Amino acid sequence: MYLTSSYLVNMTSSGASKRIEELSSKLHHYNHQYYQEHKSDISDREFDALLEELIQLENEFPELKTRNSPSSRVGGSISKEFKTVTHKYQMLSLGNTYSAEELSDFDIRIKKALGDETFEYVCELKYDGVALSATYKDDALHVAATRGDGVQGDDITVNAKTIRTIPLITKSGLAEFEVRGEVFMPRKEFERINREREDIGEAQLANPRNSASGTIKMQDSAVVSSRNLDCYMYSLLGENLPVTTHTEALGYLKNLGFNVPNHYQKCDSINEVLRFIEKWRETRFDLPLDTDGIVIKVNSFDQQNRLGFTAKSPRWAIAYKYESESAATVLKEVTYQVGRTGSITPVANLQPVQLAGTIVKRASLHNANEIERLDLRINDTVFVEKGGEIIPKVTGVDLSKRSNNIPLKFIHSCPECQTELIRKEGEANHYCPNETGCPPQIKGRIEHFIQRKAMNIDGLGPETIEQLFDSNLIQNPADLYDLTYDQLIELERFAHKSAESLILNIKKTREIPFKRVLFGLGIRFVGITVAEKLAHYFQSIDALSAASYDELIAVDEIGDRIATSIIAYFSDPDNLNFIEKLKSFDVQLSLSAEELMAPKSNSLADKSFVISGVFEKHGRDELKELIKANGGKVVSSISGKLDFLLAGDKMGPSKLEKAQKLNIEIISENTFLDMITNE
Ligand code: IVH
Repeated sequence: MYLTSSYLVNMTSSGASKRIEELSSKLHHYNHQYYQEHKSDISDREFDALLEELIQLENEFPELKTRNSPSSRVGGSISKEFKTVTHKYQMLSLGNTYSAEELSDFDIRIKKALGDETFEYVCELKYDGVALSATYKDDALHVAATRGDGVQGDDITVNAKTIRTIPLITKSGLAEFEVRGEVFMPRKEFERINREREDIGEAQLANPRNSASGTIKMQDSAVVSSRNLDCYMYSLLGENLPVTTHTEALGYLKNLGFNVPNHYQKCDSINEVLRFIEKWRETRFDLPLDTDGIVIKVNSFDQQNRLGFTAKSPRWAIAYKYESESAATVLKEVTYQVGRTGSITPVANLQPVQLAGTIVKRASLHNANEIERLDLRINDTVFVEKGGEIIPKVTGVDLSKRSNNIPLKFIHSCPECQTELIRKEGEANHYCPNETGCPPQIKGRIEHFIQRKAMNIDGLGPETIEQLFDSNLIQNPADLYDLTYDQLIELERFAHKSAESLILNIKKTREIPFKRVLFGLGIRFVGITVAEKLAHYFQSIDALSAASYDELIAVDEIGDRIATSIIAYFSDPDNLNFIEKLKSFDVQLSLSAEELMAPKSNSLADKSFVISGVFEKHGRDELKELIKANGGKVVSSISGKLDFLLAGDKMGPSKLEKAQKLNIEIISENTFLDMITNE
């Protein structure tokens, strides 16, 4: 919800204070409900509207902003430098074990120290992220810190607050307590970020662990917020705690709203611990995060205290590390892949070898630095490992087996078009600068253009693009519009129906709104969100291409890097020709009349809609635009506050049932269109 200025002008400081309190308490409640109880009484849209109202009020009355306002979740502050904090309790590390024998030694040590006492172990997974300590005072998050050297760490409170599963306020009633846990980047999130980075030609993040530790120490907390980190808690510290064992502490933390995964288990003997280790050896790959072992802890706090610590680690806990599966094989050849943006990735071609249940023939080498670091030579015996990532990697060389003394040289020219490669200062990757003549770059650009988020052309996959390119039918995305039925029907794998529907689907792209076309052009660093901003600000490709550097950076969220890239794009005559060609095919290169006039009417003011199913006259995205253009809002889930369920064909029965139960008005596409045209 965007507040009208009159709302803000008429708001007194005491009115604002009351409303801020009300909004904060609601948002804390819904946040807790969503992240801890995995349910929600309101839709995402409604949540966002409350948050937006709070942010605007806080901007207007900054003195009323509280330290732990729910608005801290979105970040926004820049930390030039992190303050140093001294840990109240040292952050130690764990001793590592790799075998049943070593674990049995640990068990013997514990038994010796505890004499005849009975005791229990607790087994947990060892999360592969970065350690975090969070201190709460009077039930509000006071400070969050990294481990640092164990004695002192960095105060990263602003960044930790963006992690939605770390409560900003709790209800323990304790004056002070500290929780510790592991911040991680969920694998899905890691993949999403990398897909987005690929879309806009940015270097890939190496792995979820490094991404988590890099992200938590970023200066811009808004970027941290956008990366959706998570945090699993594994310990509670403090005085006069209402718990006496580790498992009680975990349950207590969970009750307070902390994210405590429930894979832990009490074990009465070291044999049971070993069974736990075996149970998770393979299953751990199904978890949403990378794990590299099991942590075994003595359950009773009293026994933990009596066992105490060595200089580096507790005597009452130990880690069992799964061996990352590794195999030795011979490096036959290094080949080089060229990406859509011309970035070159070296790939190790290996003598096939069995690794963790699959046969591995290729492994990633990332970039020239990695080849140098490994000091690779052809015919070297190399070690390959499978981590959390799908493609295995080369981790080292068996020097004792080396026979070749000629170090591997990174290529100087593009393997696909022979153009000399460039490497920009400060970048790890080499690039082929021949954007318009290098086949994988051309095909990659076409694939980018046709993807769902852009022109969404059904019936065109990478193989068909390859086929069309190899038959000299397309050289750039605009050539798709020249394709004829007669050309397609000649090609292998094309029949009457597929040829006809491809031509039709290409024609349909004339309906794709400007912002998606702009994204589809593939301007480096212009992802879908940036494209949307630019489309609304400049309104047409002509205005955008004529914009100066200063005009570009005046747009919200457009900085030097994006502005420079846009200017470079529009100063290339090939790109200008491409755009002219798109224009001649009536592709939308400016905002439509409807978009320009939005909101077109206010006939749907404050009405919320859920769209579900398949429709006859409009696509779902068009319906969404129509709702927004008429002052309504689209939400994703059905709740008691929803106004309409816009129902099409093939809608899931559960949605319909839920709407009926809640007495929500269910309308057809035609009724909906009447609603906006009767205005
Ligand atoms: S307990 C005294 N439990 O492993 C240390 N640590 O090498 C008590 N870690 O810095 C730590 N999962 O970041 C504990 N379930 C778990 C863990 C865990 C990951 C990390 C933690 C710590 C490192 C110790």
